[in-house]
Parts: sequence; structure tokens; C-alpha cells
Amino acid sequence: QSADKGAHKHYMSKEIAEQPSVISGTLSHYLSQNRNAIDVANLNIDFAKTTRITMVACGTAYLACNVAKYWFEQIARIPVELDVASEFRYRAPPMDANGVAIFVSQSGETADTLAALRYCKSQGVKTMGIVNVEESTIEREADAALQIYAGAEIGVASTKAFTCQLMVLFALMIKAARENQQLTPAQEAELCRAMQTLPGLMNQSLALETEIKTTALELSKADDALFLGRGAMFPLALEGALKLKEISYIHAEGYASGELKHGPIALVDETMPVIVFAPKDDLFDKTVSNMQEVMARGGKVLLITDAAGAQEAENGTWKTIIMPDVLDALAPILYALPAQLLAYHTAVHKGTDVDQPRNLAKSVTVE
Ligand code: G6P
Repeated sequence: QSADKGAHKHYMSKEIAEQPSVISGTLSHYLSQNRNAIDVANLNIDFAKTTRITMVACGTAYLACNVAKYWFEQIARIPVELDVASEFRYRAPPMDANGVAIFVSQSGETADTLAALRYCKSQGVKTMGIVNVEESTIEREADAALQIYAGAEIGVASTKAFTCQLMVLFALMIKAARENQQLTPAQEAELCRAMQTLPGLMNQSLALETEIKTTALELSKADDALFLGRGAMFPLALEGALKLKEISYIHAEGYASGELKHGPIALVDETMPVIVFAPKDDLFDKTVSNMQEVMARGGKVLLITDAAGAQEAENGTWKTIIMPDVLDALAPILYALPAQLLAYHTAVHKGTDVDQPRNLAKSVTVE
């Protein structure tokens, strides 16, 4: 992808908009020729013998790892340990000899992530980098590396790199699940088919932009916002909050819906929007009951769900955004788009420097 803004006002908006095409490129690198299996070459890792996966990263890449933890544990049935690199490197935890440590980094140069990688190597653990920038230090130093093929990402707030990281982590999880005897070839083919629906579904989600822009105008007047999600949508709530605070400077927090009553509910009033990511999956009813607790206290809810979810729960919300249907496991990838668009348009309404937010750097190469 070229590093030119084209018709877009900001790199961030261009990078959000190009996700359908970028993701299909990423997919084609990880699908077998007949596109019904995952093909990841030369990793030299046997996931059937992997007792634990450790994932370490910073920022948005760390949140991608948080989503992947649900996938690796629920589908591949491999336990996952997670940490931000700045904690991991000094925590210097004991490592499992049959474990694999995965480092996710757009730039491949983040100082803390690199230090964590070096620590794992010093402990004799097999390491893998998942990076965007080719020939980056993390790619070179890891025992194995996978690229996410997002193309140049210029906006400081990561968007397409996040969805591409998720795509690659999902593909890797399928390979791990297969090796760990958790997926039949038919089930693998089914997941591969679902992955291939994502570019089209992303296009449909981008068509919600005008609606999201209107909603963002309201959001731009808030001082604080709360993002909620359950299961693999919880890390997406964290990512929604991170994007919003990074570029619009609105204080935002992401919470697991079930934790609402353990703190943030004390803040709920009519001035703090609560954004809820809740496709109609197995956990939907639980998330909706948390959402109703917010509404019962006069809270203003923006519900991001699908048609079935809206039918059941849109009553009483401030606004409901209806996303296309997607396989439950892949919802965190698709729902990243409205989260990005919401943050982007809120920032544009506020007139902040979207591509170069104050005090932030694209790549943090010093500690
Ligand atoms: C900075 C960037 C974020 C990014 C994080 C990790 O904070 O502003 O967008 O997620 O670094 O960067 P990496 O290159 O390791 O993914």
C-alpha cells in the first residue's frame, strides 16, 4: 500500500478504509492453495507438544494478544500467559521448557518487547515474532517470524496493523488447534471459509461510517467514556477505549462487562457514554443485563451489535449500531472497525491532530 493519503484527510482514515483489501492480502499468505486449510511454513514448532504459549507486546499489539488468548485457549485448548512487555521483562518469570513465546509488534522495534524476547531466548524458550516491518529487529532475532502484511502504517494510532495481527494470530491458532487434535479438516475448512467472509463484511461495516460520524459528534462532547465487552469482546472494549483516548484525548476506560458492578458503575450518569460491544453470541444475555444496569441508572448506552442483538436489546439505548453477522470467534476483528471509526470521527469533531497525537510516538524504541 502506498504511503500517500489519497482522497483521505488523514492517514488514519485511509488506513481504516483499506482494511478489506489489506486483510484479504494477509489472508492469501496464510491460506492453502485451495483455501480450505491454513498454510504456515517453516515454524519448527509442534503445538501438540506445546504446554504453554506466552504472549508479550505493548499497546494495541498487546490488545491483539488479549483477543488471541481467548482463541488459543477456547479453540486450540492451549493455555496462554499474557503480559505487557515492560512488566514481563522485569518480572522475568520462570519459563516452561516446552512453551512457545510470541512477540507481536507492528514496528518490530519496540524496546520493551525486544528486551522481553531476549529474556525468553536467554531462558532457552522457543520464540516467535509477529511483525509488520520486514527485517525488523524482532523479526531477525526471533527463532521464527510471521509477517502481517499490513503495508506501511503511518497513523500513530494503530488500525490496520491491529486487524492484520488478529488475522495472523487466528490463522496460527487454527494451525495450533489442528496439531493439537482440536479441529477436524472439515472444521478447519469451515473456519477458513469464515475468514474469507471478512473483507466483504468489513466493507459492509465501513458503510456505517456516516451513522458513526453522527454518533461521534455526541461523543465528542463527553469528558469520559466507558467501553464494555465480555469474552473476546472485552479486549476489544480495551482497544476502543485506547483508540479514543489516544486521538481524541477523552478519558476512556475499557472494562469487562462483568466487572461493571465492581467499580465503574459508580461513575455512571447521563453525561458519561457507555459503549457496549455485544454481538448476539453465547454471552450476549449477560452483557445485555450489564447494559441494562447502566440504563437503569440513567446511563447513555451506545450498543454495537448485530440485527438479532438489536432486536432483543436496542430498547432504551441512546444509539444502536447494527453490524453484519459474523462467526462469533471472528467478531473482535470485524468490530474493531466501528471502534476505530468512532475514535477517528470523535477526534475529527474535536479538531485534534489525529495522525500525530500529542506525546505519542509511532514506535517506542527507548525504554
Ligand atoms: C506505540 C504506538 C502504538 C503501538 C505500540 C506498540 O505506543 O503508538 O500504536 O501499538 O507502540 O508498537 P509496536 O510497533 O510494538 O506494535
